[in-house]
Amino acid sequence: MTGSESEEPLLRRAVCPGSFDPVTNGHLDIIARASRLYDVVHVAVMINQSKKGLFTVDERIDLLRQVTAEYGNVKVESFHGLLVDFCKERDIPAIVKGLRAVSDFDYELQMAQMNNGLSGVETLFVPTNPTYSFLSSSLVKEVAAWGGDVAHLVPPLVLRALTERLAKR
Ligand code: PNS
Repeated sequence: MTGSESEEPLLRRAVCPGSFDPVTNGHLDIIARASRLYDVVHVAVMINQSKKGLFTVDERIDLLRQVTAEYGNVKVESFHGLLVDFCKERDIPAIVKGLRAVSDFDYELQMAQMNNGLSGVETLFVPTNPTYSFLSSSLVKEVAAWGGDVAHLVPPLVLRALTERLAKR
Protein backbone atom coordinates (compact mmCIF):
# COMPACT_ATOMS: atom_id res chain seq x y z
CA MET A 1 0.00 0.00 0.00
CA THR A 2 1.41 3.39 -0.91
CA GLY A 3 1.33 6.34 1.48
CA SER A 4 -1.40 8.09 -0.46
CA GLU A 5 -3.70 5.01 -0.38
CA SER A 6 -3.54 4.82 3.41
CA GLU A 7 -4.40 8.49 3.83
CA GLU A 8 -7.91 9.71 4.62
CA PRO A 9 -9.63 11.10 1.52
CA LEU A 10 -9.26 14.87 1.51
CA LEU A 11 -12.58 16.40 2.53
CA ARG A 12 -13.43 19.84 1.25
CA ARG A 13 -14.51 21.79 4.30
CA ALA A 14 -16.06 25.22 4.77
CA VAL A 15 -17.56 27.18 7.63
CA CYS A 16 -20.72 29.30 7.73
CA PRO A 17 -20.27 31.51 10.81
CA GLY A 18 -22.76 33.77 12.53
CA SER A 19 -24.75 34.61 15.63
CA PHE A 20 -27.88 32.77 14.44
CA ASP A 21 -30.15 34.38 17.08
CA PRO A 22 -32.23 32.74 15.64
CA VAL A 23 -31.50 31.02 12.32
CA THR A 24 -33.60 32.46 9.47
CA ASN A 25 -34.54 31.22 6.00
CA GLY A 26 -31.79 33.50 4.67
CA HIS A 27 -29.13 31.68 6.73
CA LEU A 28 -30.58 28.33 5.72
CA ASP A 29 -30.43 29.23 2.04
CA ILE A 30 -26.68 29.96 2.34
CA ILE A 31 -26.02 26.83 4.44
CA ALA A 32 -27.93 24.65 1.95
CA ARG A 33 -26.02 26.07 -1.00
CA ALA A 34 -22.67 25.63 0.82
CA SER A 35 -23.63 22.03 1.62
CA ARG A 36 -23.91 21.33 -2.11
CA LEU A 37 -20.46 22.80 -2.80
CA TYR A 38 -18.45 21.26 0.05
CA ASP A 39 -18.13 17.79 1.58
CA VAL A 40 -18.53 19.10 5.13
CA VAL A 41 -20.05 22.42 6.18
CA HIS A 42 -19.37 23.55 9.73
CA VAL A 43 -21.95 25.99 11.05
CA ALA A 44 -20.19 28.00 13.76
CA VAL A 45 -22.33 29.80 16.32
CA MET A 46 -19.81 32.43 17.39
CA ILE A 47 -20.17 33.42 21.05
CA ASN A 48 -20.18 37.16 21.67
CA GLN A 49 -20.44 37.77 25.40
CA SER A 50 -21.14 41.48 24.96
CA LYS A 51 -24.33 40.70 23.00
CA LYS A 52 -27.24 39.35 25.04
CA GLY A 53 -29.23 37.12 22.73
CA LEU A 54 -32.91 36.23 22.71
CA PHE A 55 -31.88 32.57 22.60
CA THR A 56 -29.00 30.95 24.50
CA VAL A 57 -26.15 29.53 22.45
CA ASP A 58 -27.37 25.99 23.25
CA GLU A 59 -30.88 26.85 22.06
CA ARG A 60 -29.51 28.32 18.82
CA ILE A 61 -27.44 25.18 18.25
CA ASP A 62 -30.44 22.97 18.93
CA LEU A 63 -32.61 24.88 16.42
CA LEU A 64 -29.81 24.87 13.83
CA ARG A 65 -29.22 21.12 14.22
CA GLN A 66 -32.88 20.38 13.68
CA VAL A 67 -33.32 22.59 10.63
CA THR A 68 -30.08 21.42 8.94
CA ALA A 69 -30.49 17.68 9.73
CA GLU A 70 -31.81 16.96 6.24
CA TYR A 71 -28.56 18.07 4.56
CA GLY A 72 -26.48 15.24 6.06
CA ASN A 73 -23.09 17.00 5.79
CA VAL A 74 -23.67 19.96 8.13
CA LYS A 75 -22.05 20.03 11.56
CA VAL A 76 -23.23 22.66 14.06
CA GLU A 77 -20.89 23.85 16.81
CA SER A 78 -20.34 26.89 18.99
CA PHE A 79 -17.03 28.70 19.39
CA HIS A 80 -15.67 31.31 21.75
CA GLY A 81 -12.79 33.10 20.06
CA LEU A 82 -11.58 34.14 16.66
CA LEU A 83 -13.13 32.57 13.60
CA VAL A 84 -9.64 31.94 12.18
CA ASP A 85 -8.86 29.80 15.25
CA PHE A 86 -12.06 27.79 14.72
CA CYS A 87 -10.85 27.21 11.14
CA LYS A 88 -7.26 26.36 12.15
CA GLU A 89 -8.37 23.78 14.74
CA ARG A 90 -10.52 21.99 12.16
CA ASP A 91 -8.39 22.44 9.05
CA ILE A 92 -11.03 24.55 7.33
CA PRO A 93 -9.67 26.65 4.43
CA ALA A 94 -12.84 28.55 3.48
CA ILE A 95 -15.48 30.77 5.05
CA VAL A 96 -18.79 31.04 3.17
CA LYS A 97 -20.82 34.21 3.73
CA GLY A 98 -24.04 35.50 2.18
CA LEU A 99 -24.04 39.03 0.78
CA ARG A 100 -27.48 40.59 0.97
CA ALA A 101 -26.75 43.98 -0.53
CA VAL A 102 -23.93 46.42 -1.28
CA SER A 103 -24.33 47.69 2.29
CA ASP A 104 -23.03 44.34 3.59
CA PHE A 105 -19.96 44.51 1.42
CA ASP A 106 -17.81 47.10 3.25
CA TYR A 107 -17.76 45.30 6.58
CA GLU A 108 -17.64 41.82 5.04
CA LEU A 109 -14.66 42.84 2.90
CA GLN A 110 -12.84 44.15 5.98
CA MET A 111 -13.46 40.90 7.86
CA ALA A 112 -12.45 38.78 4.87
CA GLN A 113 -9.19 40.69 4.47
CA MET A 114 -8.46 40.60 8.20
CA ASN A 115 -9.12 36.85 8.37
CA ASN A 116 -7.00 36.21 5.29
CA GLY A 117 -4.16 38.32 6.71
CA LEU A 118 -4.34 36.52 10.06
CA SER A 119 -4.26 32.96 8.77
CA GLY A 120 -4.64 32.69 5.00
CA VAL A 121 -8.24 31.48 5.24
CA GLU A 122 -10.30 32.46 2.18
CA THR A 123 -13.80 33.98 2.25
CA LEU A 124 -16.29 33.12 -0.48
CA PHE A 125 -19.30 35.39 -0.89
CA VAL A 126 -22.60 33.95 -2.08
CA PRO A 127 -25.20 36.42 -3.31
CA THR A 128 -28.28 36.04 -1.12
CA ASN A 129 -31.46 34.84 -2.76
CA PRO A 130 -33.32 38.15 -3.52
CA THR A 131 -36.31 36.81 -1.55
CA TYR A 132 -34.20 37.23 1.58
CA SER A 133 -32.15 40.32 0.71
CA PHE A 134 -33.77 42.40 3.49
CA LEU A 135 -33.77 39.64 6.08
CA SER A 136 -31.83 39.61 9.35
CA SER A 137 -32.34 37.91 12.72
CA SER A 138 -32.64 41.35 14.36
CA LEU A 139 -35.48 42.44 12.07
CA VAL A 140 -37.28 39.12 12.50
CA LYS A 141 -37.13 39.55 16.29
CA GLU A 142 -38.32 43.14 16.13
CA VAL A 143 -41.23 42.42 13.79
CA ALA A 144 -42.25 39.31 15.77
CA ALA A 145 -42.03 41.22 19.07
CA TRP A 146 -44.59 43.73 17.77
CA GLY A 147 -46.90 40.95 16.58
CA GLY A 148 -45.92 41.06 12.90
CA ASP A 149 -46.07 37.94 10.75
CA VAL A 150 -42.65 36.35 10.19
CA ALA A 151 -43.91 32.86 9.27
CA HIS A 152 -42.45 33.16 5.76
CA LEU A 153 -39.03 34.23 7.05
CA VAL A 154 -38.06 31.45 9.47
CA PRO A 155 -38.54 27.66 9.56
CA PRO A 156 -41.76 26.57 11.39
CA LEU A 157 -39.74 25.18 14.30
CA VAL A 158 -38.02 28.55 14.78
CA LEU A 159 -41.35 30.37 14.52
CA ARG A 160 -42.70 28.24 17.39
CA ALA A 161 -39.61 28.88 19.52
CA LEU A 162 -39.77 32.60 18.76
CA THR A 163 -43.48 32.87 19.57
CA GLU A 164 -43.01 31.00 22.87
CA ARG A 165 -39.99 33.06 23.89
CA LEU A 166 -41.61 36.40 23.09
CA ALA A 167 -44.82 35.44 24.92
CA LYS A 168 -42.79 35.00 28.13
CA ARG A 169 -41.33 38.51 28.01
O1 PNS B 1 -24.42 36.85 12.38
P1 PNS B 1 -23.39 37.93 12.61
O2 PNS B 1 -23.52 38.48 14.02
O3 PNS B 1 -23.44 39.01 11.57
O4 PNS B 1 -21.94 37.23 12.48
C1 PNS B 1 -20.75 37.94 12.67
C2 PNS B 1 -19.61 36.96 12.97
C3 PNS B 1 -19.95 36.11 14.19
C4 PNS B 1 -19.39 36.03 11.78
C5 PNS B 1 -18.30 37.77 13.22
O5 PNS B 1 -18.53 38.73 14.19
C6 PNS B 1 -17.14 36.87 13.66
O6 PNS B 1 -16.51 36.23 12.83
N1 PNS B 1 -16.90 36.81 15.00
C7 PNS B 1 -15.89 35.96 15.57
C8 PNS B 1 -14.76 36.78 16.21
C9 PNS B 1 -13.75 37.16 15.14
O7 PNS B 1 -13.12 36.33 14.51
N2 PNS B 1 -13.60 38.49 14.95
C10 PNS B 1 -12.71 39.06 13.96
C11 PNS B 1 -13.41 39.18 12.62
S1 PNS B 1 -12.33 39.79 11.37
